[in-house]
Amino acid sequence: MKAVQILDVSSPQVTTNYSMAKPIPQKAEILIRVHSAGVTGDEILWLQSYPTLSPIPGHEVSGVISAFGPDYSGPLKLHQEVYAMIAPGRCEGQADYVLCLEDEVAPKPTLISHEEAAALPIPILTAWEAVIDHGKLESGMRVLVTGASGAVGTFAVQFATRLAGASVIALASSRTHEHLKQLGAHETIDYNTPNWENRVRGVDLVFDTVGGDVLTKSWETVKDDGVIVAVGDPAPSWVVGRGKAVEATEHPNVRYVYFIVSPNAERMSKASAMIDAGSIKVLAVKPFPFHKAEEAWAYARQRNRGGKVVIDFTGADESEA
Ligand SMILES: NC(=O)c1ccc[n+]([C@@H]2O[C@H](COP(=O)([O-])OP(=O)(O)OC[C@H]3O[C@@H](n4cnc5c(N)ncnc54)[C@H](OP(=O)(O)O)[C@@H]3O)[C@@H](O)[C@H]2O)c1
Repeated sequence: MKAVQILDVSSPQVTTNYSMAKPIPQKAEILIRVHSAGVTGDEILWLQSYPTLSPIPGHEVSGVISAFGPDYSGPLKLHQEVYAMIAPGRCEGQADYVLCLEDEVAPKPTLISHEEAAALPIPILTAWEAVIDHGKLESGMRVLVTGASGAVGTFAVQFATRLAGASVIALASSRTHEHLKQLGAHETIDYNTPNWENRVRGVDLVFDTVGGDVLTKSWETVKDDGVIVAVGDPAPSWVVGRGKAVEATEHPNVRYVYFIVSPNAERMSKASAMIDAGSIKVLAVKPFPFHKAEEAWAYARQRNRGGKVVIDFTGADESEA
């Protein structure tokens, strides 16, 4: 089968390989024939995700169930259209076929394409886990979402307003403000505004998807006993060093957490229903054929992309597995 391959995780170089072994499902594994696979540009930094030095990358796919392991007894059916988030530590989604575990796979939203569905698993699950589990957002609370126009941020805006009934301030470039308001943001701020952090005070939750300077500034916006939830890469020094955040000295009662998203098939099924009901909007996508995978990865790592990158594995120009 064909697959994208990372030649060396230490100096990430991506290539295409047309002669990889097709995996065989064991135990309760689910083999998916991948139609499209999503690319999160920064996933190249998720070193803990890669099982070998030259792995097949990719944690999110949309496709069709091709086979089950002998012990599978769940509700999914052969040839069913599904989408999946493959857990950190496993990956291998950017290939003709990928093995998934039961909790990673859910029915694909029926009204969108495989390309659109492949872009969704990580953003949906990350935003949901941030807002509901870690942020404990409730109706009437105020939340600042940074990187609000990005893949994760777009869903954070929608979930914070629609699942939690919160009031959202979206930090993003001004070209995306109208769209973010349509998704539910109550207020928008351009990150190019000097000292933007002084325009926001007393938020209950910061959900930061950017990191670095933006995360540092966001400490000024959160209320004394508020919460900061961060996911941006590279992870902040207090995660890597497992120490305290420097800012915590001045803000001793702020709770702060960085997390790595987990698969959750139940949430993905609920999200499918919400998408089909039109209550949440999906992302714009930028599809690349498999043979342009290197270009796809370079594009996915650019800013101001205006669409999440997906790689197609079933295009007419591809040789069949
Ligand atoms: N820990 C986890 O489990 C987890 C899960 C998912 C994602 N992530 C990480 O979260 C981050 C966001 O992921 P994503 O898929 O949403 O990425 P994305 O689609 O590329 O979105 C990134 C967003 O951040 C904005 N941004 C980037 N640099 C910025 C800066 N210096 N100042 C202000 N805004 C900035 C971008 O705005 P412009 O387009 O205007 O530049 C864009 O809206 C990535 O680092 C990703 O690796 C982590």
